[in-house]
Amino acid sequence: MSEKNSISAEIKLVKGGPIKITGNIILTKSDGTPIPAPAGDVYICACGRSKQKPFCDGSHKQVVMGRPLL
Ligand code: FES
Repeated sequence: MSEKNSISAEIKLVKGGPIKITGNIILTKSDGTPIPAPAGDVYICACGRSKQKPFCDGSHKQVVMGRPLL
């Protein structure tokens, strides 16, 4: 069985936050270069504000309904 055939994951959209990925995944850049992912669940930024893209750094908490908190 190839490595790609053994990949299985759950992808969950966190309301107002990141995309949570649980499972055995391979994360790559657009050119195919692997991106080392932290062990355990992976949180991908969905708001565009993270300074650690592609990972969520919690910056989404400064936004409510697309508007920055005052
Ligand atoms: S979703 Fe968390 S920083 Fe973007």
